[in-house]
Amino acid sequence: MAEQRGTVGGPVLTEWFGRANLHKLEVYEKLGGYEGLRKVVTGMSAAQVIDEVKASGLRGRGGADFPTATKWSFVPKDHPGPKYIVVNADESEPGSAKDRYLMENSPHALIEGAAIATFAIGGHQAWIYIRGEYDLPYEKLRDAIAEAHAKGHLGDHPFGTDYPLDIRLYRGHGAYICGEETALLESLEGKRAQPRSRPPFPAIKGAWGQPTAVNNVETLSTVPWIIRHGGAEYAKRGTEKAKGTRMVTVSGDVQKPGNYEIEIGVTYRHIIEELAGGPFPGRKVKVFWPGGSSAKVLPGSMLDTSTDLDGLKALGTMGGSGGIIVMDDSHCVVKGAARLLRFYAHESCGKCTPCRVGSNWAVRTYERILANEGSQIELALLDRVQQGLQGGRCLCGLGDAAGWVIQSTMNHFRNEYEEHCLHHTCSVEGALIHA
Ligand SMILES: Cc1cc2nc3c(=O)[nH]c(=O)nc-3n(C[C@H](O)[C@H](O)[C@H](O)COP(=O)(O)O)c2cc1C
Repeated sequence: MAEQRGTVGGPVLTEWFGRANLHKLEVYEKLGGYEGLRKVVTGMSAAQVIDEVKASGLRGRGGADFPTATKWSFVPKDHPGPKYIVVNADESEPGSAKDRYLMENSPHALIEGAAIATFAIGGHQAWIYIRGEYDLPYEKLRDAIAEAHAKGHLGDHPFGTDYPLDIRLYRGHGAYICGEETALLESLEGKRAQPRSRPPFPAIKGAWGQPTAVNNVETLSTVPWIIRHGGAEYAKRGTEKAKGTRMVTVSGDVQKPGNYEIEIGVTYRHIIEELAGGPFPGRKVKVFWPGGSSAKVLPGSMLDTSTDLDGLKALGTMGGSGGIIVMDDSHCVVKGAARLLRFYAHESCGKCTPCRVGSNWAVRTYERILANEGSQIELALLDRVQQGLQGGRCLCGLGDAAGWVIQSTMNHFRNEYEEHCLHHTCSVEGALIHA
């Protein structure tokens, strides 16, 4: 995968990428790493750390765009027992591979960010829940945590203080649902990964019933830079309301797929055509997922859409996990949607009925359509199923995501659905319409 920077105001997360052995403590520290944690534990209060991150405008990069400082401030200050930071390193969203890239290249940035966050919520323990299949990032983090302990940056007396800080790694259980924060907490506790009903939210009752803030890898890897340079400096990047930079993973029909750091506000055309090299010769971008498979699709005619998080929300979609999936005009959208629905149905944990039943109904309907057995009935059925999947009817966002794939592809490519259902043809892929 190609790895390049796409920032206008200068990179934040990938600032030191390309330096030999950045994953080693010695190298990371020489460049200024751990200065943020030192500053925090030796001279700042938890409230000051939260204020600094608030000034940066940082919002979570795990999918929901939630303001990071606000999430930390929800953790009760006067709680008598333990409080936890849980790092969501599960990264199973189709189209997203940026957390892996960050952990492999700069594991100490995540460790430093997680330690700062733990201090900010008044806790002493962080957990990193890492996707079970991520062997190399696991090894890099394991070794980096050991280095940080050996140097005394973690442990009973970080930087000579009496504020203990510890980080532990936990390998994930190998399912997409493990990334949903409450299912992740169940899994961390050794139980089957299924979402909890909310309230109570994890900030009040999280891991082992204790107040917990769950944060994404990229979110926390940004924090050391913010503490080193100040929240106001970070807030100079990005748009008026969506601050900073973010990682995107571009995959699919582009010439240079890969991970790129972009300043929020650049257009998808800039990312897809300039950074990722555009579609292959003679091809056009037909459709793209702007924020992972869970974000509603946009047609190729909307490449000039900005990556501004609020602008995307206004269009009914989202920046999500930053995974940009590109499909060119040689592919059938119905077939693509059917493939994704198989993923969502397979990954549905089964706890709530709308998701378990609805996703499987959708798969069976797509199967009939792709076997040339579609009709007006299948068109109407897909529409009803997508309505039943979304709108808060499910326990977590997995069901919504499945519904959005159907809804947004039908919305923008109704003609292709009608071709399949009403005429049993596919003008894009000819007779080859079997999934
Ligand atoms: C089905 C599902 C899977 C998810 N997978 C991930 C994931 O792999 N990584 C992640 O950071 N967030 C994932 N999320 C979002 C988390 O629930 C949560 O919002 C996020 O970890 C919060 O971190 P942030 O505030 O830093 O964005 C997922 C959500 C859903 C509904």
